[in-house]
Amino acid sequence: MSVLGKILKDVIQGRAKAGATGPLSSELPPPELIESANSSLDSGDVASAEIALAQAMSRYPEQPATQQLFARMEFVQCLAAAEAKLPGPNYLDWLKWFQQRLKPASYVEIGVESGQSLQYAQAPTRAIGIDPALRIVHSQTAWIKLFQLPSDEFFQRHDLRQILGADAVDLAFIDGLHTFDQALKDFMNVERYADAGTIVLFHDIFPVTAKTAERERVTTFWVGDTWKVMMILKKYRPDLTLFTIPTHPSGLGVVTGLKPNEQLLWRDFESICAEAMAQTLDDFPPQIDDHLNLVPNDFNAVASLLDRRHHSA
Ligand SMILES: C[S@@+](CC[C@H](N)C(=O)[O-])C[C@H]1O[C@@H](n2cnc3c(N)ncnc32)[C@H](O)[C@@H]1O
Repeated sequence: MSVLGKILKDVIQGRAKAGATGPLSSELPPPELIESANSSLDSGDVASAEIALAQAMSRYPEQPATQQLFARMEFVQCLAAAEAKLPGPNYLDWLKWFQQRLKPASYVEIGVESGQSLQYAQAPTRAIGIDPALRIVHSQTAWIKLFQLPSDEFFQRHDLRQILGADAVDLAFIDGLHTFDQALKDFMNVERYADAGTIVLFHDIFPVTAKTAERERVTTFWVGDTWKVMMILKKYRPDLTLFTIPTHPSGLGVVTGLKPNEQLLWRDFESICAEAMAQTLDDFPPQIDDHLNLVPNDFNAVASLLDRRHHSA
């Protein structure tokens, strides 16, 4: 049971034990209760924040201030669970590492947001960033063209080769809409511009907390059902090489061996997505980790995997 689930259970049992069966208060929670919980969270004292939250939940569960506190606690708990399970370099360390190691001539990032991951593209890399809701705050040093569009629309309207002035995309990072069908479509579109050396990275494919991995967003920290894209590629594209780096906060999928003229995914997209739509994490026992081709979260280990791929290509 999650820590939050336990809080709720304790709250309900606590009320029952105390004979608190009457109506819950419609009053606002005392501001000092919420403030003390928030300042405990600010200082990393999760245990004290949990006690304050339990009090707020027992008496004022429907109040927006309690709900906000609950959402914040859930966010902290999800990140802590991911941190405990995924030690070592985080996904941004990896993005930096891939850029420095590969020095790609061309880079495509789908899902840019503030430009945090895009900032690791360095000259002379030519980079394209695609996002319908750009809000860049990180300074960028590479040659970059930004497109404020959803990825499907970008690929309908533009030719990557022309924009990049290159025959193929060397490195791509798919981190846009957190649904597997969109991530798959993004992969298919990137593959049209791939060659034997192209590497595609997927974010959000290793869900640590099941609730964060639902298609509909019910948590602040949300990875969506993007993980299904790895299952689809494993099943329908056994010709690809794919593995997962268990990096905080939600893993990084690595895919190589792309073929620009491959048609299977385009042909069967609807039926493949219909099949995957019905799947849940429980369809991959004993746990999703065992289906993601995990490799160590270690730069040397991944370097030798990539070298082997290079020599066998
Ligand atoms: C998690 S953020 C990206 C974070 C960024 N890659 C980083 O690590 O710093 C996801 C972004 O995907 C964008 N997005 C959502 N739907 C998209 C789509 N269809 N095409 C491209 N980007 C999309 C959102 O606007 C959001 O900014």
